Amino acid sequence: MAESERLAGMVALVTGGGRGADGGMGAAICRVFGQAGARVAVNDVTAEATEATVRQLEAMGAEAIGLVGDVSNRQSAESLVARTVERFGRIDILVNNAGIGGRRAPVVELRDEDWEAVLAVNLHGPFFLARAAIPHMRQQRFGRIINIASLAALRVSLLGGAQYTASKEALWGFTRHLAVEVTQHGITVNAIMPGYTLTPLVMAHTSPEARDRIAQGIPSLRGATPEEIAYVALFLASREAGQVSGVAIPVDGAVSVLPGDITKRRQILGG
Ligand SMILES: NC(=O)c1ccc[n+]([C@@H]2O[C@H](COP(=O)([O-])OP(=O)(O)OC[C@H]3O[C@@H](n4cnc5c(N)ncnc54)[C@H](O)[C@@H]3O)[C@@H](O)[C@H]2O)c1
Repeated sequence: MAESERLAGMVALVTGGGRGADGGMGAAICRVFGQAGARVAVNDVTAEATEATVRQLEAMGAEAIGLVGDVSNRQSAESLVARTVERFGRIDILVNNAGIGGRRAPVVELRDEDWEAVLAVNLHGPFFLARAAIPHMRQQRFGRIINIASLAALRVSLLGGAQYTASKEALWGFTRHLAVEVTQHGITVNAIMPGYTLTPLVMAHTSPEARDRIAQGIPSLRGATPEEIAYVALFLASREAGQVSGVAIPVDGAVSVLPGDITKRRQILGG
């Protein structure tokens, strides 16, 4: 099968997929899905962000719409699914990619709103969206739900706070439980656990020296590119991956199998 037909006939909703060339993993997932023949609903919080990715997809000949909305708001999240189905007649793939790191502070200094903001986007959003998408997927007897968690779900985030680690571990628990519930209906539910990934945001906020230091703590000696995350999402979204459900795939250059020498890792990361 040609790579451009891998997702032919499928409709994907990708949250946090905006900002086009300046976007992160979500924008890369939109591009890779568009190249594979999917019609793509691109969500983000501003029209400027969604349109940047829609323009990129259209330039490569893919069909796309922009959907402005906040995944942490129940009504807004539900309307993303409704508008996708209204426009394209179905929803085959839901990628819960939108996520925030939140305020980085020790637990004793975290305010209630710091905790709640991260849980709202990283955990409640995927719940609202999956709950809204599953009835459509059940009717089709086909669905792919892909949750972008984090390596922090398996270990501990060294760059974010406890609320980030907690939200991503909970997203992984939600993934496992939902997989057991819905796989009988032809719907797979999986998580991707990116390690350090060189998204434009990460590039903008770290110096080349800091990036070098972090890379030394990774067996592959580098961070992942957004496309390397996107191609794992493409595999999970494909028809051929129908028996893969309830798994978490680390994309981390082997960090997750490092021996747990936290002192050495902290020295390397300068923490
Ligand atoms: N970059 C990394 O190293 C890394 C590592 C592990 C996991 N992750 C996870 O991968 C995902 C993507 O990360 P990224 O680095 O590409 O981030 P990013 O900040 O570049 O992109 C996230 C996108 O989500 C959008 N967004 C934020 N809140 C939203 C909301 N409430 N509703 C809709 N959209 C919203 C943002 O506007 C942005 O475009 C996140 O879930 C993040 O936690 C990133």
